[in-house]
Amino acid sequence: MSRRYPLHQLVHRTLFRRLAVLAVLLAVVMGGAAFLHGRHQAQHRAVAQAHDRIAVIRAEYGQAIGEGLAPAAAFDAAMDVMMTMTFENHSGRFAYAVFFDESGDFYAFHPANHPLADAAALAVGDNRSIRPGIGEASARVVRIEGHPTVQLVVPMAGIDGSLAAWVSGVFVLSDAAASALIREPLIMAGGIMGVIALTTLLLYPVILRLARRLASYSGDLLEANLEMMEVLGCAIAKRDSDTDAHNYRVTIYAVRLAEREGLSPATMQTLIKGGFLHDVGKIGIRDDILLKPGKLTDAEYAVMKTHVEHGLDIVGRSRWLEDALAIVGGHHEKYDGGGYPERAPGDLIPITARIFAIADVFDALGSARPYKDSLPYDRIVAILEEGRGSHFDPALLTSFLQIAPRLHAELTPLAVEELREKLQDITQRYFNAELERVLV
Ligand SMILES: [Fe+2]
Repeated sequence: MSRRYPLHQLVHRTLFRRLAVLAVLLAVVMGGAAFLHGRHQAQHRAVAQAHDRIAVIRAEYGQAIGEGLAPAAAFDAAMDVMMTMTFENHSGRFAYAVFFDESGDFYAFHPANHPLADAAALAVGDNRSIRPGIGEASARVVRIEGHPTVQLVVPMAGIDGSLAAWVSGVFVLSDAAASALIREPLIMAGGIMGVIALTTLLLYPVILRLARRLASYSGDLLEANLEMMEVLGCAIAKRDSDTDAHNYRVTIYAVRLAEREGLSPATMQTLIKGGFLHDVGKIGIRDDILLKPGKLTDAEYAVMKTHVEHGLDIVGRSRWLEDALAIVGGHHEKYDGGGYPERAPGDLIPITARIFAIADVFDALGSARPYKDSLPYDRIVAILEEGRGSHFDPALLTSFLQIAPRLHAELTPLAVEELREKLQDITQRYFNAELERVLV
């Protein structure tokens, strides 16, 4: 069989599709992880900037306490100092803060004219139950009215270093810091996605070349197997009927019936192999029996029937052909158990062999041989009907007879080369799937 598999396009299409899916999946997962990591980092930085202010408050508070100020006054003084200081990073400012102790007394700090002051005061009220110990702190990034803020609760030590009070405040990020909270994770995720896309694009030609080489080897191997199968089928046809037409037609009939039954591509492959090789065992039958023009004697018929065992012996030596054993071994079995060699009945006969038996007899009756003429279509159908339930699977026969008129009209007028072309199209369709599996 000539090479007709569009291997390069097949590899390109399959590989491109799979790599694209893989790259998109990887980009989504890795990009998502980078976004979350970037957001965490940006939030961590915002919290650190809020803590910078708290550190100033703590230091000033401690100093004021040391100078003998009451805690509330010390806090007020510390806030004043902090608010007048200039920080290197203009990352935001407190919208509201309170200073409170166990008794609940507190001092509230209201910076002038902050648009989020009222909402920040409510948030601080909600956080009153959060009371971290010395060395701890609570800090969360929370949006208030759509604007990102850092809500902090930190402990304040008294003059003896023990826990004396807490500061709870809402630090509102500046517009620049707020946009960095979005921009930085997006840049990080975009960078990762870009690296994945670039890596995929760079690797693609390398993988494509390797995959094409591998697929090419596999295609050569498949082609060699198909050629050897056709050579064997042709060899026995030359001895038996001097034409390959029967092999081609019977295979096409069988595949069309299997398609009608909705069977798998693997089954089609089995039918194609079995179609070529079902009678390969006849190579082991003596000419005086194989080519005898008249009716065989019982002894001669017994010898003729051994072509099934010869066929199993020949085909069984190839792992690639092993699925065809079902047809080679089962194509003379009958539905009522009256066939040979196993006398298997009904569903114990593989479905491929049951399909093939119908196709084989249908074509044999319609073919002229040295010892007989071809029968007209109506007579062929009548003989098949006589074998319903005894020779043939009745359900499969019913199904076949619905497509038989069209198939008979389509194939009977065709020359051997035209039949060969038609079968090559079928073979290409069903064995392409085998090539695609190489790329999995
Ligand atoms: Fe046979």
